[in-house]
Amino acid sequence: MKISKVNKLEGIITVPADKSITHRAVMLSSLADGISEIDNYLDSADCISTMNAFKSMGVNIIKEDKRLIIKGAGLRGLKKPQANIDAGNSGTTTRLLSGVLCGQNFSSTVFGDESLSLRPMKRVIEPLRLMGADIKAKDDNYLPMTINSSGKLNSIEYTSKVASAQVKSCVLFAGLYADGITKFTEPEKSRDHTEKMLEAYGADIKVSGLTVSVKKCEKLYAQNIKIPSDISSAAFFMVAGCIVGNSKIIIKEVNINRTRAGIICVLKKMGAKVTIQNIKDVSGEEVADIEVLSSSLKAVNINEEIMPSLIDEIPVIALCATQAEGTTVISGAKELRVKESDRIKTVASQLLKMGADIKETEDGLIIKGKTKLKGAEVDSFKDHRIAMMLSIAALIAEGHTVIKDSDCVNISFANFYEILKSICR
Ligand code: S3P
Repeated sequence: MKISKVNKLEGIITVPADKSITHRAVMLSSLADGISEIDNYLDSADCISTMNAFKSMGVNIIKEDKRLIIKGAGLRGLKKPQANIDAGNSGTTTRLLSGVLCGQNFSSTVFGDESLSLRPMKRVIEPLRLMGADIKAKDDNYLPMTINSSGKLNSIEYTSKVASAQVKSCVLFAGLYADGITKFTEPEKSRDHTEKMLEAYGADIKVSGLTVSVKKCEKLYAQNIKIPSDISSAAFFMVAGCIVGNSKIIIKEVNINRTRAGIICVLKKMGAKVTIQNIKDVSGEEVADIEVLSSSLKAVNINEEIMPSLIDEIPVIALCATQAEGTTVISGAKELRVKESDRIKTVASQLLKMGADIKETEDGLIIKGKTKLKGAEVDSFKDHRIAMMLSIAALIAEGHTVIKDSDCVNISFANFYEILKSICR
């Protein structure tokens, strides 16, 4: 993709549905009894990996315009897939699914693309083994991973070292099949969609501070839900609105769940003109329109505590920091090293090419602003969030920028370039 500097951004946009909620909606509806209707799902490559996995286990999933109709197989009604399950690029598919697969009475193997095959799975293998699962993985940590299930699991009380919603969800899903009550404690609060949705689908689940407990479950019940827009996709346009002069963007009906909305706090701290309007409830999630105006920004410190609520937004927040006066220090972000790319490295190396003053640390980034960016040939490393961040950087860079493998935006945001074009003036 070749992108040139723009004069301003202007418009009212709607970004695609929340990726995390779409994965969970497909999984829970597949495991429920009855027919679920999911309005406004995310039809992107990652969520298609989840849909295909459940289709391969006999679940009937039909796409009808902007809706998914899912005829659940029941918690114990999945069939052994004919072939190994391809999770594509999706960590969420792999880690959440592994919890479900441990509760079945068939064996299955999950594999993924080059990037997913480099991402750690020990974090789910370890608790699942404590629950009695029989799992084999490459080097005991990587895909392909084979789960030989007998359908018998025991409950555990597990304290996770990482604040990861994927690990939490995996253990809670396995907990649906485990005798007794499974308890999961995390070091910081990660996104809470699984807890909320398990409750809505009828599981016996309790949240107390950083601990979630789930009881063995006989049945989940089909639900009709509407999925709001993804704040992680909105984030690119929030930052774009702040850093491109004379801009005004309104992003409609974005999920502002507080376990996801760290970027709003950070942008406000940086002095950004961000306003939240028309707050309402959509299927148990808080949703609002977000208005962003061009802003004079100042540096900010971002640490471990707030990290889970903006982990996927760090690449675009780092870009924002290049346009803020002062030194922004991002720490406690070593999880970024095991995302779709090593995002500490890819963010620093590519923004450096564009003239930013940015340094890698072991667990974060140090960014000095404000710097003028210049167009360059940059690489997304096939990481969707890096491709989108670099595309936003290109809007303020002198000359033009060429982004390699930009089609990876399909992982979470297939019409990203269409929407971007529609607001460029
Ligand atoms: C996700 C959790 C986060 C996030 C990912 C989606 C989820 O990963 O980065 O994009 O839907 O549970 P971790 O659980 O690894 O932090």
